[in-house]
Amino acid sequence: MESASRVTALVGSYRKGGVVDRLVDEVLASARDAGAMTTKIYLIDRHIEFCTNCRTCTQEEGTAPGACVLEDDLRAILDEIRSSDGIVLASPMNFGTVTAVTKRFIERLLCTAYWPWGRPAPRARDSRRDKKVVLVASSAAPAILSRLTTGMIGLMKTAARLMGGRVIGVVFAGLSAQRRHQPLCPRAVRKARRLGRRLVKNQ
Ligand SMILES: Cc1cc2nc3c(=O)[nH]c(=O)nc-3n(C[C@H](O)[C@H](O)[C@H](O)COP(=O)(O)O)c2cc1C
Repeated sequence: MESASRVTALVGSYRKGGVVDRLVDEVLASARDAGAMTTKIYLIDRHIEFCTNCRTCTQEEGTAPGACVLEDDLRAILDEIRSSDGIVLASPMNFGTVTAVTKRFIERLLCTAYWPWGRPAPRARDSRRDKKVVLVASSAAPAILSRLTTGMIGLMKTAARLMGGRVIGVVFAGLSAQRRHQPLCPRAVRKARRLGRRLVKNQ
């Protein structure tokens, strides 16, 4: 019997119950309806240190992520990602890019690259892109403007690749700071639910 799909969401929002968080809930609920087991990780609740650029994790060749000298929750999060078929990476836009807590996590993904001293650029340790990834983002500005004028989604796509994934869709909720308790845009909810189903194996 085939095992159930596992979907893990990495939420880089500071506001539980905010726009990004609720859109992630829609993606996950839809994935569960399609038979997946889901987990939500709030990056703000985890102990994630800043990358110190010591490059220890990039020196040894091999397909598995290099060991980091920092003792925190990163390894556990990477294990969670490795055992997932689908990933949701989510962040509000702050100053034109992902939140600081999301960026701190993304920088730690350096361990997925082989980059010994002397080489001008890193290369991915593992070229597989077998996980499906959905990106969720929000901004005060209209979504089209945010997407066209910033590199935020490009950065999130890079993170998706480093986690062994390929992006199957983006939910970008613009005009998300009109009110303190912003209602979700029905179109964004529909897209979140559609992508949630597609995250599940064979959907
Ligand atoms: C520090 C900070 C910086 C922000 N920078 C931007 C920005 O550059 N562009 C933008 O459209 N919205 C910006 N916003 C608005 C947030 O993107 C918006 O409030 C958020 O997407 C709502 O999502 P949430 O409910 O999940 O927190 C910023 C908000 C904060 C707090």
